[in-house]
Amino acid sequence: MKILVTGGLGFIGSHVVVELLERDYEVIVIDNLSNSSLEVLEGIHAITGKKPEFEKLDLRDKSDVQDFFKRHAAITGVIHFAASKAVGESVENPLLYYENNLNTLVYLLQELQDLPQAHFIFSSSCTVYGQAEQLPITETAPVQPAASPYGNTKQIGEEIIQDVCNIKPTLQAIALRYFNPIGAHHSSLIGELPLGTPQNLVPYITQTAIGLREQLSVYGDDYPTRDGTAIRDYIHVMDLATAHVVALERLLNHKAATNFETFNIGTGTGSTVLEVVHAFEKATGESLNYKIVARREGDVTAAYAHTAQANDVLGWKAQYSLEESLASAWEWEKKVRSKE
Ligand code: WQD
Repeated sequence: MKILVTGGLGFIGSHVVVELLERDYEVIVIDNLSNSSLEVLEGIHAITGKKPEFEKLDLRDKSDVQDFFKRHAAITGVIHFAASKAVGESVENPLLYYENNLNTLVYLLQELQDLPQAHFIFSSSCTVYGQAEQLPITETAPVQPAASPYGNTKQIGEEIIQDVCNIKPTLQAIALRYFNPIGAHHSSLIGELPLGTPQNLVPYITQTAIGLREQLSVYGDDYPTRDGTAIRDYIHVMDLATAHVVALERLLNHKAATNFETFNIGTGTGSTVLEVVHAFEKATGESLNYKIVARREGDVTAAYAHTAQANDVLGWKAQYSLEESLASAWEWEKKVRSKE
């Protein structure tokens, strides 16, 4: 049985490929290398001793997708990461996001819907909830109007999958709604590739600590939270990777209750921005230069996962602490900079 990982050289994809290889799955990776590099394949090889099949392929090219599936008839499982994921960029260039995140999903599903059996794991995001009324956030929390084209592509993506699953019982799917993935593999051989100025908090913290950035700007300390800064659920990328394999095996072992399920994947613990800063300082011994600035447009006050479904139904629970996750992010940052 061959498992296809699209976007498998990306931050989360590469960590899932490692998990799959370590569990002796046969893996084929496709990636268009728009936000990753072939070096990641070396990192995966160094960690696992295995080199997955790799094809450079852009899922926006429908005929390439059709040709790929003609050449790989043995694929029954697909974990789909390939997509653009920068909120700000999606506001400036919405059609890039609708083409790259949705056309590609349609072309993939057009191939999967004709297979005798297909198992599909979709990379979704807690961003679909916007600012949830109830915290922690359950999977039944209402999906709010998207705050960005990026978030909209995740909402529409889930609807597309649901519509196909409604008419194709042979398609079994799970959407994993991630909270905030951070950190890196404990070997520091793979991690989040730093391309350009980081939009996310943790890579900005590690780049500030290593001296690449002058100072961290904390976006607002006037939120209605315990210290005024916004709350998020930061989950180690290795915990997130395990969740993908557990979800895939739920489908392969025919354990799913319906042929399209969604799970919130988070630790269940919310941390404020300042708590992350202080946890980073405690975990690494580094002191961080930061200043409080105005809120960032589009940020919600608080988002953290209700983990009962993931823990009790999916059978997965986050293992790493915030400090362990931040320490792994720091080790990765130091490794990346040592190679420059
Ligand atoms: C976290 C907190 C910021 C940077 C986004 C996407 C989500 C997912 C993860 C793709 C917020 C604050 C940040 C900085 C700061 N992406 N912050 N200074 O916005 O929760 O989620 O990334 O799937 O879909 O929406 O993550 O890391 O950008 O921000 O103070 O330099 O850190 O205001 O409170 P976010 P983030």
